[in-house]
Amino acid sequence: MNILVTGGCGFIGSNFIRFVLETHQEDSILNVDKLTYAGNPENLSDLADSPRYRFVWADISDAPRMEALLKEGIDAVVNFAAESHVDRSIQDPSAFIRTNINGTYVLLEGIRKLFPKKPIRFLHISTDEVYGSLGERGAFTEETPLAPNSPYSASKTAADVMVRAYHRTYGLPVLITRCSNNYGPYQFPEKLIPLMISNALEDKELPLYGDGLHIRDWIYVEDHCRALDLVLREGRDGEVYNIGGQSERTNLSVAHAILDLLGKPRSLIRFVTDRPGHDRRYAIDFSKIRRELGWEPLRTFEQGIARTVEWYVTHEPWWRKIKSGAYLEYYRSMYENR
Ligand code: NAD
Ligand code: DAU
Repeated sequence: MNILVTGGCGFIGSNFIRFVLETHQEDSILNVDKLTYAGNPENLSDLADSPRYRFVWADISDAPRMEALLKEGIDAVVNFAAESHVDRSIQDPSAFIRTNINGTYVLLEGIRKLFPKKPIRFLHISTDEVYGSLGERGAFTEETPLAPNSPYSASKTAADVMVRAYHRTYGLPVLITRCSNNYGPYQFPEKLIPLMISNALEDKELPLYGDGLHIRDWIYVEDHCRALDLVLREGRDGEVYNIGGQSERTNLSVAHAILDLLGKPRSLIRFVTDRPGHDRRYAIDFSKIRRELGWEPLRTFEQGIARTVEWYVTHEPWWRKIKSGAYLEYYRSMYENR
C-alpha cells in the first residue's frame, strides 16, 4: 500500500510510520504534517534516506494541497493530524476547530470528489474522550453515547461523527478508532507521563491536578500502532473500534511509579488547581476488536512504563531541546525556505 499519513511528525503518528515500514516491506508512506509546536521531524530522522518514506510540509485544512497529494496514487489515508492537548483547548479552542473539524472535512471531501467510483480507505484516529467521563464502574463500549466535555474532545467528536456521515451518505470506506491514553517514546512533554518523567529528572515539582485520583486507561503506543495497522487492513468499512490498554491507574499512582523507577522522592509531587471540566475516569471495553481482529495489548503498564522511563533517560537531548524551545528553530531552518 501507498499510505498517506497525516500528523506523522507527532507522537503516535511517528511511532505508527516506523511500525508500518518495519512490518510491511512493500508499503510506502507519504507523511503530511503542518509542524505545529507538537510536530517534530527529528522524531523520524532515522527514515530521512528511506526510499519508502516521504515528508511533505502542509496543512490538512488546505484543500488544493490535499487534493494534489491525494492524486499521487494513494491507497489509504490515516488521519492522526490534530491539536491534541486538552489544556491548550481550554486556553483557546480556535485551532482545534480549524484542524480537528475543518481539516478532517477537507480530507473527506477530497476523497469524495476525487474518487467517486472507488473511494480509498480513510482510517480516522478518534479518541475515547468522545464518550465523556465514567463513574466508578463500567467501561466505554462502541455504543456508549457521545458526551464530550472539553473543547478538544468536542472537536474530536464533531470530526468522528462527520467521518461516520461520509460513510452513511456517500459510501466512503471509513474506519474509526477510539483509543485510551497512550504513552511511550517521542511523546511531547506537556502530557502527563513525559512531563512527570522529565520534571523528575530535573528535580522539579510534579503538578497533579485536583486530588490526583482521576483515572486513565494507559496503553503503550506500540500496542496502539499494531491495532491501527490491523484495523486499516482488516477492519470492516463504516465500523468503530475501541482500543484500550487494560491498565487503569490513578494519576497519583502513575506519578509514584515514575518516581520509584527514577529513585526520586515522592515529596516532588504537588497538588495544584484542577483542570476545568476534568473527566474523572476513562475505561475501555475493547472486546469488539479482540473478537473481530484478534487484537489485545501485549504490554502491561509495569513493562511499558519501565521502557518509557528508560527511553526518556537515554534521550535527554530530545526532550531538553523541546522544553527549551530549540527544536522549533531546528525545523524552521530546515523547511522554511522550501
Ligand atoms: P501530537 O500532538 O503529538 O501530534 C499531532 C501532529 O499533528 C503533530 O505532528 C502536528 O504538527 C500535526 N498537525 C497538527 N495540526 C495539523 C494540520 N492542520 N495539518 C497537518 N498536521 C497537523 O498528537 P498525538 O498524541 O500523536 O495524537 C495523534 C492523534 O491521536 C490525534 O488525532 C489525537 O486526537 C489521537 N489520540 C491521541 C491519544 C493520546 O493519548 N495521545 C489517544 C487517543 C487518540
Ligand atoms: O484518552 C485519550 C486522550 O488522552 C487523547 O485523546 C488526548 O489527545 C491526550 O492528550 C490524552 O488526554 P488527557 O487529558 O487524558 O491526557 P493528559 O496527559 O493531558 O492528562 C492525563 C491525566 O493527568 C488527566 O487526568 C489530567 C492529569 N494531569 C495532566 C497534566 C498535563 C495532571 O494531573 N497534571 C498535569 O500536569
